[in-house]
Amino acid sequence: MSDRAEKSLPDDFRKLSLEARRAALKSAYCEEDVDLGAVLGEDASAADRMVESAVGFLPVPFGIAAGFLIDGRSYDIPLAVEEPSVIAAASFAALLVRGSGGFATWATEPIMSAQVFLEGVLPGRELGIEAREGEIRAEVDLALASMRRRGGGYRGLEVSRNEETGLVRVDLRIDVRDAMGANILDGAAERAAGLLEDICGGRRLMCVLTNGAVERRAGARFEIPVRRLARGGYSGEEASRRIESASRAAESDPTRAVTHNKGVMNGISSLALATGNDTRALEAGAHYWAAREGRYRSLSSYRRVGDALEGRIELPLALGTVGGSVARLPATALALRMLRDPDGPGLARIAAALGLAQNFAALFALVTEGIQAGHMRLHARKREAEA
Ligand code: MEV
Repeated sequence: MSDRAEKSLPDDFRKLSLEARRAALKSAYCEEDVDLGAVLGEDASAADRMVESAVGFLPVPFGIAAGFLIDGRSYDIPLAVEEPSVIAAASFAALLVRGSGGFATWATEPIMSAQVFLEGVLPGRELGIEAREGEIRAEVDLALASMRRRGGGYRGLEVSRNEETGLVRVDLRIDVRDAMGANILDGAAERAAGLLEDICGGRRLMCVLTNGAVERRAGARFEIPVRRLARGGYSGEEASRRIESASRAAESDPTRAVTHNKGVMNGISSLALATGNDTRALEAGAHYWAAREGRYRSLSSYRRVGDALEGRIELPLALGTVGGSVARLPATALALRMLRDPDGPGLARIAAALGLAQNFAALFALVTEGIQAGHMRLHARKREAEA
């Protein structure tokens, strides 16, 4: 084994300057002639401001699924993703749906819950919490001054006791407007915890948002005349029937639903990454919603309605357009500008349409020519381009 393989980073790595961290990385893991600037980006100062122990950036392909028609407006949607077929599939569906009237979307108010978990609360003492809601609200408002100026703020509370753990949970419902909201919610929960302890005599175990985000949802639908679905030797009628059958498979079989939903999130997570949003929070919320009835189901469904195939989707979408890492980098700021700087619910509506498009394109390919044929065509096109 060579000397280099034995090396690793110094214990105080995280405390070093960015330059020193890059030098330590190079000495431990790279050959002499490696140009770290070319590998991890020349200027890593923005990464250094965003995360601990940063050494640079990972370049992820940034592309555009152009030509979406959503609620009568045209959108070119930026996507950051490594999978070759995602942007091609979204663009294909966008074109087909555009020619059939486009996507109609909706979104709820951006209300999320900050949770305070309390232990050691004597049975029944939690019932006193609701009676003192005014005081709790005043306390939470102190942590929400700027959010209130932007039209958001406290929207109510819910108290519950978990019989299994004995823990009391207080959900503080907060309208986070255009923020993803994690920091705001965590801060509000921490602010309220002391008063909640005083009221019911328990002790806080933890204060944090729930990524369930079930109140902050968006949805989309489209209709495509079945005659437009002829493909791969299948008539439009037959392709439509097969898509509906694939939809029913995902609605009733969790092992299929998880892959069906992965297709939905191919689009949504890529848009989230392109705009600097938290992809893990979105994935967690989507899968929680899919399993909300105790059985994991698909996020979307397809049905024949008259002469058309109708597609529908609904899911929690905690997407922000300000704060956190959103638009912190030039590319993520550009991504939001391309979408005409939407507000939080506006971005969620675009994401819902995109998720449905991505999912529809996958199903359409799967039940007609097969997914591999499409992928192979893409690879062939890339190889031609590279030749
Ligand atoms: C691949 O990234 C996504 C699909 O597996 C989705 C699906 O099966 O519906 C094609």
